[in-house]
Amino acid sequence: MSHQTLVVFYSHTDMSRRVARLLCSQFGWAIGEVSDQHPRVGTGGIFRCVLDSLLLVRPEIRYDGPDPKDFDSVVCVVPIWLSRMAAPMRTFIEAQATRMRRVAVISVMDRHGSSCAAVEADRLLGYAPALSASFTTREVGDGSYAPRLEAFGRAVRATRDIWPIERSDGWMLSAG
Ligand SMILES: Cc1cc2nc3c(=O)[nH]c(=O)nc-3n(C[C@H](O)[C@H](O)[C@H](O)COP(=O)(O)O)c2cc1C
Repeated sequence: MSHQTLVVFYSHTDMSRRVARLLCSQFGWAIGEVSDQHPRVGTGGIFRCVLDSLLLVRPEIRYDGPDPKDFDSVVCVVPIWLSRMAAPMRTFIEAQATRMRRVAVISVMDRHGSSCAAVEADRLLGYAPALSASFTTREVGDGSYAPRLEAFGRAVRATRDIWPIERSDGWMLSAG
């Protein structure tokens, strides 16, 4: 399969799911969901979110969606926990790093912390994401993020043919 984009999200309280679904509906892209092998329920669940962020844990996950290897670009939609990416996406990105040709990152957060998540994505991937953007829960909640999300999607689509460069081990990756 060529020239295809996959959107992969994890969502604990539904905001990132909304962002991923809207992006897919705007561009007709495929979607994949990362979920917890051990669901985070109630106060104990929040406590685990905090602990996983502080200790940079890679929790066990499930992935339900198409194989990222079959796509030219993967857009990861990531909630921010304590200025870091939500732990289940850490597991996903690390596990799939060498199987994704080109990665863009969307952070979803209350206020701040997206830049730290972008740095973390860079470290997990071994190269900087081609594109990144962030949206606040307020923007997502009132729907005002939609035009900017569409602009981001257009940028992903417009640059996907010009970003790839050959890596020394034969893989193609983004120059971003
Ligand atoms: C444990 C935890 C830590 C969080 N830390 C931050 C933070 O550092 N900065 C921020 O802006 N929002 C923070 N948030 C808010 C989430 O980023 C925000 O609610 C986001 O929309 C969650 O995405 P989701 O609804 O897809 O799970 C935190 C939420 C949780 C549960």
